[in-house]
Amino acid sequence: MPMSGRRIGRSVTSMSGPDPDIPAVEARGLAKVFGEGGAQVRALDGVDLRVARGEMVAIMGPSGSGKSTLLHIVGALEAPTSGTVSVAGRRYDGADDKALTHLRGQHIGFVFQFFNLLGSLSAEENVMLPALIAGRTDGAMRRRAAELLDVVGLGDRAAHTPAELSGGQQQRVAVARALITRPAVVFGDEPTGNLDSVSSREILELMRRAVDDLGQTIVMVTHDPSAATIADRVVFLADGRISGVEERPTIDAILDRLRVGSA
Ligand SMILES: Nc1ncnc2c1ncn2[C@@H]1O[C@H](COP(=O)(O)OP(=O)(O)O)[C@@H](O)[C@H]1O
Ligand SMILES: [Mg+2]
Repeated sequence: MPMSGRRIGRSVTSMSGPDPDIPAVEARGLAKVFGEGGAQVRALDGVDLRVARGEMVAIMGPSGSGKSTLLHIVGALEAPTSGTVSVAGRRYDGADDKALTHLRGQHIGFVFQFFNLLGSLSAEENVMLPALIAGRTDGAMRRRAAELLDVVGLGDRAAHTPAELSGGQQQRVAVARALITRPAVVFGDEPTGNLDSVSSREILELMRRAVDDLGQTIVMVTHDPSAATIADRVVFLADGRISGVEERPTIDAILDRLRVGSA
């Protein structure tokens, strides 16, 4: 099904955003050690990551290189062993679970590989959920949910449950859900990893439009070089460290990096 193609409306963008000079994400010297003694694994070993507001960054690297660990830490799902991390100027390394939960609810959106929609809720209710959890049940939020469903091309599917939607449609609902609270950053962990190539392309174009039209900041992990070309920058991880960075990535540049990495 073709995308609606319509630009994301001004009323969706009317945000009192954070200071543009403050990066959306800033991490310094991140390290993460799992386990104890001989069974210790250093999943991250001194990672610096700075993502400007309105930037789209892809993270690539071989299996086990630390991509998910990095995303979980900058996504406030997990604490680093050492190093500092902040989203929109709010530092949260060392924060407790309650503070992390609050930060996620107010400032961070997620798009997962397996959509993670609630099966008993309609598409519109799924989009509303983060706003409800954040205590925003006003009419403006309802209008925004309807408008975001329109933007992702599912205005006529608002009352459908996930089981009544294709995988690509479910992921479009998940993208709308990630945008509802106007988060400082949206994190994607293989957001196209479970989709066919046509649906993947639609989701990537949708994410790109959120960046270009809304000024949304997005950081996504992907294995797919073609998906990564949609980013402004690709950060490559190997053995828990940054092994390279590609600005304005082309498919050839990405493939070259991945070849070097596997040599
Ligand atoms: N909860 C955990 N407990 C122990 N080791 C872990 C845990 N999570 C990840 N690891 C290890 O950390 C390393 C990085 O994992 P991960 O971040 O999942 O890599 P990637 O997402 O790039 O495949 C791997 O060696 C993995 O086995
Ligand atoms: Mg992973």
